[in-house]
Amino acid sequence: MDIVDQLRRIEKNATREFLAAKSIDSIEQLRVRYLGKKGELIAILRGLKNLPAEKKREIGGQANRLKASFEEIIEQKRDEFSRAVPGRLTIDYTLPGHPYRHGHRHLVTLVMDQIVGIFQRMGFEIADGPDIETDYYNFGALNFPPDHPARDEQDTFYVEDDYILRTHTSGVQVREFEKRTPPVKIIAPGRVFRHEAVNARSYCVFHQLEGFYVDTDVSFADLKGVLEAFCYEFFGEGVKLRYRPSFFPFTEPSAEIDIRCFLCGGQGCPLCKHEGWLEILGAGMIDPSVFDAVNYDNEKYTGYAFGMGVERIALLKYQVNDIRLLYENDIRFIRQFR
Ligand code: PHE
Repeated sequence: MDIVDQLRRIEKNATREFLAAKSIDSIEQLRVRYLGKKGELIAILRGLKNLPAEKKREIGGQANRLKASFEEIIEQKRDEFSRAVPGRLTIDYTLPGHPYRHGHRHLVTLVMDQIVGIFQRMGFEIADGPDIETDYYNFGALNFPPDHPARDEQDTFYVEDDYILRTHTSGVQVREFEKRTPPVKIIAPGRVFRHEAVNARSYCVFHQLEGFYVDTDVSFADLKGVLEAFCYEFFGEGVKLRYRPSFFPFTEPSAEIDIRCFLCGGQGCPLCKHEGWLEILGAGMIDPSVFDAVNYDNEKYTGYAFGMGVERIALLKYQVNDIRLLYENDIRFIRQFR
């Protein structure tokens, strides 16, 4: 068979075969057969050198056009098959992009940061204490008698012997008093733990923000001033506060502080459980027995302390009715608060 016949045969058969190919593999087989190192079309191109110049040009031109047309078919087929394979990545650069979701602070962190910011602007320093605390710092130095019900295993998580998970942030008062001499003006945000039944209103883990100020001549009026300033800024100008006498072993006198329900204005609604008031914190003048424990001169110094539950305040402000939502981490809930 002369070279012209061969070329004609290839053109006829191979074109049909290429166009009929149904898979990447069969395209590859055809490519090897015709365009591979030992391919039939390549053999023809190699054989050109033995031809007279005129033939060489004519047949060479045909063979090269054929080669180019096969390469084009191969390209197209490959493209087509790779798109048809499920799961294979094909990129359409004209599609709109996927927006990238940014993370953001959790509602508890958000509220904690707001509260901390307000007190920082009033001149409070920030201090920290350990989550695992000793009986002494959590209870003893704070004037809890040995048989106080809060020490019961019903309320407190015991780690081992003398170690517990702190039930409040008040222990940081003692730790800081031991390190410093007045004036001491500090807030201590942190996590606390209570061995309680979990329900819509209470959880076994939550956060508190402790605040305390000790100096010569600190009075209950100073405490009221600072708490009012905080509430005006956090809940809005014009919010009303109510002080109810209360008891804590480490403050005397002690008070629990309510704010007028900002949702109903005191008329009574589900948020305030028809009370018209919302309890937000405990506070009082630091008991002299605490100063004795840290060797502060009771004649010289007075001080106030307060403690608020951060989750409680977050739930109130953002009108969420179940504390468990804060810890379930359902992203649909979390995304609502940025
Ligand atoms: N530690 C108290 C509690 O957890 C709150 C409190 C702090 C009360 C400081 C008075 C002063 O309930």
